[in-house]
Amino acid sequence: DKGEFKHYMLKEIYEQPDAVARTIEMALDNGETTKLRDDFLQRHEALLSGIRHVQVIACGTSYHAGMVAKYWFESLIRIPCSVEVASEFRYRNPVVVDNTLVICISQSGETADTLSALRDIQKQTPAGLVSLALCNVPTSSLVRETDIFLPTLAGPEIGVASTKAFTTQLVALILLILKVGVTQKRMTDEQLNTLLSELHQLPGQLYASLNLDGPIKTMSESFEDKKSCLFLGRGLQFPIALEGALKLKEISYIHAEGYAAGELKHGPLALVDKDMPIVVLAPKDSMFDKLKANMQEVHARHGELFVFASEASQMVAEDRLHLVYVPDVCETLAPIVYSVPVQLLSYHVAVMRGTDVDQPRNLAKSVTVE
Ligand code: M6R
Repeated sequence: DKGEFKHYMLKEIYEQPDAVARTIEMALDNGETTKLRDDFLQRHEALLSGIRHVQVIACGTSYHAGMVAKYWFESLIRIPCSVEVASEFRYRNPVVVDNTLVICISQSGETADTLSALRDIQKQTPAGLVSLALCNVPTSSLVRETDIFLPTLAGPEIGVASTKAFTTQLVALILLILKVGVTQKRMTDEQLNTLLSELHQLPGQLYASLNLDGPIKTMSESFEDKKSCLFLGRGLQFPIALEGALKLKEISYIHAEGYAAGELKHGPLALVDKDMPIVVLAPKDSMFDKLKANMQEVHARHGELFVFASEASQMVAEDRLHLVYVPDVCETLAPIVYSVPVQLLSYHVAVMRGTDVDQPRNLAKSVTVE
């Protein structure tokens, strides 16, 4: 039931603060900032203590969640992490080293390529292999075939475009990283405390980001006749740029590409002219100054910028630079909060263009054939 909402997608976007709060509660007691819940993945501590590498396998939006996890695994707890789309991984005879944690991320748990990639690795039987399903459907094939089930508590997702499944995947991944970090003593108490208190603030920040709906709807009007669009981000925002581009193309049928902003000069800058909208994810983080230089390059070539930034960035709107301030959030969790404005933007552009938002042409919610 869509209730008061026009589409499932919009309802699911608005459910994110609650879905994320539920997912956080798997690992965190209310207000507790010094430790994870004792029962969080407790049965699997022995398995998790032995892993030395991570391989993420997924498709589409779930793959983008894996890309964020790679940045987190390596920067926060220094465990090497590779991420690959399942449809490539399964056909290239990949090497899986000993003591690898294979994380299969899938909302449905029935994605054919992801399941096949998992089965192929299991056949190779590398020593110390641990498999984990990060999944929204407890009864799915993926959950049955893996050692560890880490649920996303998003509730049923009906819209083909993944929204709350994505943000809850990100939350579950950071919780997993904290668990591995604590189990393997790869994290100081201070790091843990900081992240736990930041996690407590996350549902509120997501709730506040829903207030951007009005300004983003206004922004979306500029996209009505556009043929093509770029999404830019750096660091943890690069996967969100990819996700924003996927969302826009999937439901509005506007061609969109996500790029790491540092790659602009290596090709995509040639596309930039006055008809090219460029969406930029620009929190005030360690990459902000570099990203700002990238934005200037685009602006100098008369591209039209649509920037999501924090107030702390002190950016101001100007000619051909539209700006929406996103609530303040720490750098680590910013990809979760910045997902909301790109979802809302895609949604409003699609509604304006009159597409079938919940059931876009040619696509299925669950891709059970390759
Ligand atoms: O169920 P899964 O998470 O395995 O699905 C993977 C993709 O098919 C899915 O994320 C797809 O890209 C979404 N429709 C994007 O919004």
